[in-house]
Amino acid sequence: VLGRVAGELHAWVADEDDQAIVEIDAESGRVIAATSVGSRPRDLAVMRDGTLLVTLPDANSVVRFARTEAGELRETARRPVPLEPLAMAWPDEAATIYVTTGSGHALVALDASTLEEERRWDLRREPRGALVDGDRVLVAHAADSAVSVVPVVGEAREVDRIEIGLAPSCDDSLSGCSRARIARHAHALVRTPDGILMPVVQVQPNPPVFFGSMPQAVDPFGQSDRSDKGSIVGYGIGRGSSGAPAFLGLARIDGKRVSGGATSTCLEPRAAVAAGAHVAVACRGSARIELFGPAPLLEPQLVSRVAVGAGPSAIAINRDASSLFVWSALAREIGRLDLRDEVFRPVPAPKRAVNDRRAAPAHALDRTHVVPRRISRDPDWLRGRELFVTNDDPRISQDGRACATCHIDGRDDGITWQTPSGPRRTRTLAGQLDRAPYGWRGEHATLETHVKTTFRQLGGKGLPASDLASLLTYVRSLPPPPTMSSAEQRGRALFAEAECASCHAERAGDREVHDVGTGGKFMTPTLAGIGSRRVLMHDGRYASLDELIKKSTAMGSGASLSDDDRSSLVRYLSTL
Ligand code: HEC
Ligand code: HEC
Repeated sequence: VLGRVAGELHAWVADEDDQAIVEIDAESGRVIAATSVGSRPRDLAVMRDGTLLVTLPDANSVVRFARTEAGELRETARRPVPLEPLAMAWPDEAATIYVTTGSGHALVALDASTLEEERRWDLRREPRGALVDGDRVLVAHAADSAVSVVPVVGEAREVDRIEIGLAPSCDDSLSGCSRARIARHAHALVRTPDGILMPVVQVQPNPPVFFGSMPQAVDPFGQSDRSDKGSIVGYGIGRGSSGAPAFLGLARIDGKRVSGGATSTCLEPRAAVAAGAHVAVACRGSARIELFGPAPLLEPQLVSRVAVGAGPSAIAINRDASSLFVWSALAREIGRLDLRDEVFRPVPAPKRAVNDRRAAPAHALDRTHVVPRRISRDPDWLRGRELFVTNDDPRISQDGRACATCHIDGRDDGITWQTPSGPRRTRTLAGQLDRAPYGWRGEHATLETHVKTTFRQLGGKGLPASDLASLLTYVRSLPPPPTMSSAEQRGRALFAEAECASCHAERAGDREVHDVGTGGKFMTPTLAGIGSRRVLMHDGRYASLDELIKKSTAMGSGASLSDDDRSSLVRYLSTL
């Protein structure tokens, strides 16, 4: 993110590897300060009052920092947001901030000044970037082919969905049956003068096969054990089919409709920003940013590509749209691109089409600056991580796909692929690989045999031993998605067992008055955000949850819990 400090343009970077927020002088690239935040930061927001909000997915928290004169950040508020807060979005007046949570698959509304939770909506799997659009918030999903539409103003609570995938259809009144099935995933949404655009990875899990000259898709749902299985060579690759089963499209969200646009071979689009009438997309697996646009009519075009450091994962643009900044997390490089006219001009008569993956980017950054690493990392692990996300490595796949294209953030895209052994849904890797065997049938005794089979399924030539070892080191290390700790889970069970749930639902009271021994009948309050209250009960008689449970003899059987159980219950209540 960018902001001004005493008239100078500064950039702040969420540095996951160093677990720090790094402040940089945008003009010179000089590091002004690096503040350790104790856990991997994910998204950043600069508020009107100059404070900085940060999501910490592993710590299940959103934290506010105030900036000191020297650029150091001082924590001024912290709010638990289970599970795995990722991206933030806020309207212009910024009274409320919306946070998506990955493992918690929710959108959470927080009061922008107190960080008190206001509302929460349940979403489908793997929500990522969000965008406020009038009285609704749109949320991109990294799996499941949908955009969530959350009505945030007014009483409506129902979350709507825009389906962006293409299901097999059979409509006799039109041209017959289409057996194609296309899944679309996205990480980011951007507002442009022409509407809201979203870079989407499009994948076709069922390769077309040829009967005579007619392409036919294989049994789309893979439910029958058809003999044309023999024509499948690997994940989405069929004998006699050419072309990539995955590519990038630019979708436009127009009311409830989605229309397509330019295509390219950027398969890991992690961030996007509007540059006037253009859209710049950071392609994390390809060390480049791609510029699309302008789109006066329907179809934006891929106009040019700019080479950047490995792993571009965040992108920002200054207010007069004269410069674009990109953070390449793997190379630890912050780069500046001056948006001169020629950057937007299609390269004249290129030898290869601009979206040909072999065509070299036509432009380079104007300035780059590497942020030194403070926490050292195993070089083998770093190499493995890079291999996991890098597109266009023919040793891994014939069509540019990376492990991360299907194992999104080490998890899975939810897609069922046609394979020579039958339909197989992608498996989640994160936190799952410490014990053999591997694969849905447990058919591989070692990780190495499984991954060598994967290269074959992707049409890749295979990695040499040392690179393969690095890749395996990395996939083994992927941490499981955050869930409740065992104490919190025990606490949740106790909440029911100790009859708390008979008056308190998790998030709301029963709107009835009860005498729970506090001097008469009082209406059950909500337990949302209870962990951060300093005084409890209508008269503020208790200062801690522990004391409250111990002394409340008329609220369920909480008072008779053992010390351990009481502490588990407190841990659980603090997550609400
Ligand atoms: C086209 C999508 C796709 C890509 C790309 C892909 N995988 Fe997979 N992965 C799958 C599917 C589908 C399965 C389940 C396969 C099976 O059981 O036969 C799987 C399973 C696995 C498993 C076994 C997990 C378990 O619990 O047993 C590992 C390990 C794995 N993949 C690693 C990788 C690595 C490393 C790469 C990159 C070289 C990669 N995958 C690329 C789709 C993919
Ligand atoms: C009979 C209904 C009832 C049951 C059962 C019950 N509560 Fe309550 N709870 C209340 C009422 C009513 C209040 C408000 C009392 C007051 O403010 O004087 C309250 C207050 C609280 C508060 C303080 C909230 C605040 O905002 O200050 C907490 C925490 C709480 N209950 C937790 C629990 C737990 C944990 C259990 C199970 C062990 C439980 N309650 C069981 C009715 C109930």
